[in-house]
Amino acid sequence: MSANREHFSSRLGFILAAAGSAVGIGNLVGFPVSAAKNGGGAFLLIYALFVVFICLPVMMAEMAMGRKAQKDPFGAYKLLSNHDKKWSIAGFLAVLTPFMIAVFYMVITVWIFGFLAQTALGNLDVLASPKYFGTFINDTNVFIYMLIVGVIVNLILVGGVKEGIEKAAKLLMPALFVMLIGLVVYVLTLDNAMAGVRYYIVPDFEKMSASVLNGALSQAFFSLSLGMGILITYASYISKKDDIVGSSKMVAITDSLVAFIAGLMVLPAIFSFNPNTDPSKLSDSSVSMIFDYLPKLLLALQDDIGYVGASIVAGIFFLLVFFAAITSLVSIVEVPTATLMEEKRISRKKALIILALTTGILTVLSTMSFGMVDWLTSFINYGDAQKSFFDLIYDVFYDTILPLNGLLLCLFVTYRWKKSGLNEELAQGSEGYIGSFTEKYINFSLSTFIPVILLAIFINTVATKYF
Ligand code: PHE
Repeated sequence: MSANREHFSSRLGFILAAAGSAVGIGNLVGFPVSAAKNGGGAFLLIYALFVVFICLPVMMAEMAMGRKAQKDPFGAYKLLSNHDKKWSIAGFLAVLTPFMIAVFYMVITVWIFGFLAQTALGNLDVLASPKYFGTFINDTNVFIYMLIVGVIVNLILVGGVKEGIEKAAKLLMPALFVMLIGLVVYVLTLDNAMAGVRYYIVPDFEKMSASVLNGALSQAFFSLSLGMGILITYASYISKKDDIVGSSKMVAITDSLVAFIAGLMVLPAIFSFNPNTDPSKLSDSSVSMIFDYLPKLLLALQDDIGYVGASIVAGIFFLLVFFAAITSLVSIVEVPTATLMEEKRISRKKALIILALTTGILTVLSTMSFGMVDWLTSFINYGDAQKSFFDLIYDVFYDTILPLNGLLLCLFVTYRWKKSGLNEELAQGSEGYIGSFTEKYINFSLSTFIPVILLAIFINTVATKYF
């Protein structure tokens, strides 16, 4: 390993940071609601299978690439392909994608922070008032929240790998677990909680369809922070002695467990708020769930525990989501940060300033595309719909390029870097890996059906989204 490259202080530090990246807004609300809508236990089962058989090999491959190259994603593709120009496109996409997704994720994190701040100021009743969210996103206060979130993210990142990213993860992740468990315990005591649990867990295989499967896989892929260069970057900061295979499993288990437990918080809460809820009618979007539906539900708790009590529960909930979002945001901004530092040979500080300015401008434009500024709100037309600047970023990078990045990565590690290189790296630090079933499975899956599935998702998205 290179002597002056920054490193995580321990394997635990790395696992927490990677899990911090994986556990995000999607786990806490998006996952539980889609599980409940799309077959409960059946969805949970399929999701778990996707995580184990499709996402885990990709995760291991990303980590292996990063640790082998000891470089940012762009540099890793360059080095491991022996400076093959073709592959620099994959390297470029693996850095551009997190840069753009950082913008989209920042917008939502800023809203979460705004809701947290308003709850702390005693305004839960305002947050729960009809149509409030529409007013909130077009209020100039969002720029103040944006500034605060930007400062927090940069304060963490400027500390570097050990003192910044790792310390933040070691503080925020345990806090997140405690808050999550606390909320689950509380919510399960509410009336009708068990109806929600039942809906979440009892399998209904009739709900399975091609689009549910596609949605579950995309969700698992995004939730594990794949295709964004994040794990390449984080794994470039670990030691050759670390066990990548074992660490990947830990990260995947933590991420999936948090998502699963979040369901035990969200669904009982929804059913106690309205025992006659028809989950198939719940909104698909985490955004409208978090910002529109949940404040009303949280305010209703005041009948039980008073306004202050309800505000405290709401505050804990928004803080939980905020912590999850911050550790994800940090990981995604670290990718272009590392790339600028290494490819342009500039300091961390300089890289962060450049990124704060560039992502800052794009985040402001995105934030103004919800009605504040007309041309940004109706920015472009495709797929028979008018799309905002924010929609465009979301559709292109999250929905379209993400599976493409996964596809390119699979092809790269198995056909260009070659299985022997990948296996050698995975065997480092992981006893008993070579010759095991795991090795055979990883080699086979990454070179055959996983790229085919990712290609199918990519083609399907392009065909349905844009034409
Ligand atoms: N895993 C995150 C989530 O579920 C996704 C993400 C990771 C987004 C990193 C941005 C950065 O919300």
